[in-house]
Amino acid sequence: MKDPTFDRSLVELGLVSDIVVNGSELALTIRSSVPSDAHKSRVETDVRAALASLSTDALTVAVTWDLQVPMRTLTGEDPVPGVKNVILVMSGKGGVGKSTTAANLALALKQSGARVGLLDADIYGPSVPTMLGIEGHPSSADGVHIEPLERFGLKLMSIGFLLDDPKAAIVWRGPMLHGALQQFLKDVAWGKLDYLILDLPPGTGDVALTLAQKVKVTGAVIVTTPQEVALQDVYKSVSMCDKLSIPILGVIENMSFFIDSAGVRHELFGKGGGQLIADFAKAPLLGQIPMEMGVREWGDKGTPIVQAAPQSDAAKAFVAIADALTTRIAVDSFQRSGGTKAPASSGPTRLKIVR
Ligand SMILES: Nc1ncnc2c1ncn2[C@@H]1O[C@H](COP(=O)(O)OP(=O)(O)O)[C@@H](O)[C@H]1O
Ligand SMILES: [Mg+2]
Repeated sequence: MKDPTFDRSLVELGLVSDIVVNGSELALTIRSSVPSDAHKSRVETDVRAALASLSTDALTVAVTWDLQVPMRTLTGEDPVPGVKNVILVMSGKGGVGKSTTAANLALALKQSGARVGLLDADIYGPSVPTMLGIEGHPSSADGVHIEPLERFGLKLMSIGFLLDDPKAAIVWRGPMLHGALQQFLKDVAWGKLDYLILDLPPGTGDVALTLAQKVKVTGAVIVTTPQEVALQDVYKSVSMCDKLSIPILGVIENMSFFIDSAGVRHELFGKGGGQLIADFAKAPLLGQIPMEMGVREWGDKGTPIVQAAPQSDAAKAFVAIADALTTRIAVDSFQRSGGTKAPASSGPTRLKIVR
C-alpha cells in the first residue's frame, strides 16, 4: 500500500498505527500530510482492498485519520510560531480574483479537516468582511492580543473589523501599513493553525517585502486571468517573489472559461495565460477556475461558493486546487528531508491486537 502523495509505502514511512483487531472488525490510524478528501478515499480504498485480499472472511475496516501537515522553517523572532504554513495569495493586479480565491481555498482546506486562518492583508480594500459575511469588532481579553473573528470554522482578521465603517477608505502612509500588518501577524491570537492564508493587496511590492522580512512564508500562489493585459502585471509579482526568495507554490488561472446554458465552453479572455505564467515561474499550474455567476453572487452574499454550492464546477475547481497546493507543500517538505521523513505524529503510536 502506497501513500499517493509520497509514492512510498505507508508502512515503511511509519504512517500506519494503532491497529486494533476485534473479531472481524479492524481499526487503524493513518497519518496524512495533506487535508484532502480525495487522498483519504484513495488510501482507504487501497487499504480495504489489500485487507480483503488477506482474509476470506468479511472484514469491517475503520480508518481514523491523523492529519499532520508539514511545518515551515521558523525565524528567530517568528511572529506566528503556532502556524505551520503561511501562504500568500497574490497577483500584480486587482480584480483577478485574489480575495475570492483566498476565501474559497481557506474554506476548502477547512472542510477537509485542517485548522485554517484567513488574514485580509488588503488594508486599503478589505474584502473579507463582505466575502465571509461577517462584521464586528474583535475583542482582546488581555489588552494585548486580539481575538480573531470566526466564521465557517475559519479564524479571520481584517482591517475592516477595526473600522466603524468597513467600507470607508483608509488613507495610510507606508509605515502605518507595515505596522498594521505586523500587528495582524504578531498580536492576533491565531493559536495553532495548519494554514494561514494571506489575501494580499494588488501591486504587492511593499506588503510582500515587509512580510518577507518578518516571517518565513511557506510560499506564494499567484492568481491570474488568461488574458495578456493581466499577464504583464503578474510577471512582475513573479520576479518580486524571486528577489525576496519567496517560493512560488503554483499558479491559479481564474475566470478561465465560461460554460453557457447549452454546455458550450467559451474562452472569453483567451487561453493559456496561466500556463505561461507557471512556466515563467517554474511552478505548476494548480488549476483553472471557470467564470460562474455563483462565484460573484455568493461572494457578495457572504458565503463563498465552496461553502454555499459545493457541487458547482467552480467549487470543485477550488477543492482540487487546495488538494494540489497542499500536496505540493507536503512533497516539497518530504523532498527536503531527503525523501524519507513524513511529518511525525503528535501522539504516541501503539500496536494493539484484540481478539
Ligand atoms: N471565477 C469567477 N467567476 C465569476 N466572478 C468572479 C470569479 N472570480 C472572481 N469573481 C468576481 O470578480 C470580482 C473581483 O474578485 P476579487 O476576488 O475581489 O478580486 P481581487 O481580490 O483580485 O481584487 C468580484 O466581484 C468576484 O466576485
Ligand atoms: Mg482583493
